[in-house]
Amino acid sequence: MNFCIKTYGCQMNERDSEAVSELLLRHGHTCVENESEAELVIVNTCSVREKAENKAVGKLGVLVYEKKSHPGRIVGAVGCMAQRMKENLFKQVPELDFAVGTHRLAHLPAIIDRVLNGHGPILDAEENDERFDELAGHIQGSISAFVNILLGCERGCAYCVVPFVRGRERSRPAAEIIDEIRKIVAHGGIEVTLLGQSVMSYGRTNPVWPENYVSPMGFTEPLARLLEVVSGIEGVKRVRFTSGHPSGITAELVRAMSELPAVCEHLHLPLQSGSDRMLKMMRRGYTADDYRRSVDLLRSKINGMAFTTDVIVGFPTETVEEFEMTRQFMEEIGFDNSFIFKYSPRPGTPACELKDDVPASEKMRRNKVLLVVQDEMGLAINNRIVGQSVEVLVEGTSLRNQACWAGRTRTNKIVIFEPKPGIKPGEIMNVRIERAMPQTLYGKLI
Ligand code: 5AD
Ligand code: SF4
Repeated sequence: MNFCIKTYGCQMNERDSEAVSELLLRHGHTCVENESEAELVIVNTCSVREKAENKAVGKLGVLVYEKKSHPGRIVGAVGCMAQRMKENLFKQVPELDFAVGTHRLAHLPAIIDRVLNGHGPILDAEENDERFDELAGHIQGSISAFVNILLGCERGCAYCVVPFVRGRERSRPAAEIIDEIRKIVAHGGIEVTLLGQSVMSYGRTNPVWPENYVSPMGFTEPLARLLEVVSGIEGVKRVRFTSGHPSGITAELVRAMSELPAVCEHLHLPLQSGSDRMLKMMRRGYTADDYRRSVDLLRSKINGMAFTTDVIVGFPTETVEEFEMTRQFMEEIGFDNSFIFKYSPRPGTPACELKDDVPASEKMRRNKVLLVVQDEMGLAINNRIVGQSVEVLVEGTSLRNQACWAGRTRTNKIVIFEPKPGIKPGEIMNVRIERAMPQTLYGKLI
């Protein structure tokens, strides 16, 4: 049947949606872009903040309401909310046909068949260690691909729902990852992003390299070794990994990043707060100074290193002074981009036991302040690039202006430029930057 997938949440969810899509195609279903043509609509959900959940519930509500004008339409929810809420999701969206958790995505074709045979609604949110990755295909022709290297997370940040929705941490054997990347390249992939909720813990809970493995560059750490091999795969031009944590910025990792030409000079390194008391309450496992030292180390070895981050404002008991520490710290580091979130209590997390005592209006104020700070910083950093030539991986026509094309720098900045005849997505070209905005660069092909 015709299906369409709507995705909320992080890159891991994007990746899951791609894999689900591939799986359904292999089972004879057809993917359509336009929701109104779909007989089966799947919403891949996120639980990280209440707002994300509300959005998905709203979307599902509209989709089931539209069953009136789309007789026979099947509507399902997959991913983190299905995993977290289980049968309660059916209370919020009564006409939902199925809800399938993060561990059970591989069973979707069979679940859809059961719904089609009149056995719905179906809930499958069991928790197990099933390797969804083994089923993971790739989108044919996609230039840039995400590859899961580690599932789950056990870092135990006080605010975070991930351990509840993605399960315990497990690392994927390096051989499997390398095999998947070879296939991606064979289908035209050029850039790979290695994904894990806590990517720097790769290989911590289970062995991922054979015992007698010897890294040509002498690396002993699992992630540095992986970067070495992945960058060496013929056809791989750019390698990224996300999300980072200061504890993982070791001398070896820095050496891997600086000596392997394919590894991009950008890191998403969530900060969350610039106050040590807040970081402690958040159970982040580092101080602001640890964070600063990680950034300094990377900057000292890698020219033009770009940093992006996540920050939470209004965590329980955060004072105005502590918030100011975050603001100052952000300015000190100078982030290329950041994502600012208002604290949202998540059921079952340790922080949820604490009183959510920063008023919504104050969270909003702090959020706005940091957005302005980020825009100013982003603009100042990008203005320094004006006049320079940057290497751009061409993605295709720009979403905003069809006459222009868009691509990304190695530092993960979007570049808008006028195309030249015969240009193709996937090409690497040099662009001279002429104008900068906080999150976008504009230039001319050289
Ligand atoms: N409230 C607000 N923001 C959160 N994040 C994670 N959990 C919460 C929460 N309960 C943010 C963090 C994380 C990003 C993905 O989402 O900043 O890095
Ligand atoms: Fe959202 Fe976290 Fe699930 Fe990603 S893993 S979709 S951020 S809840």
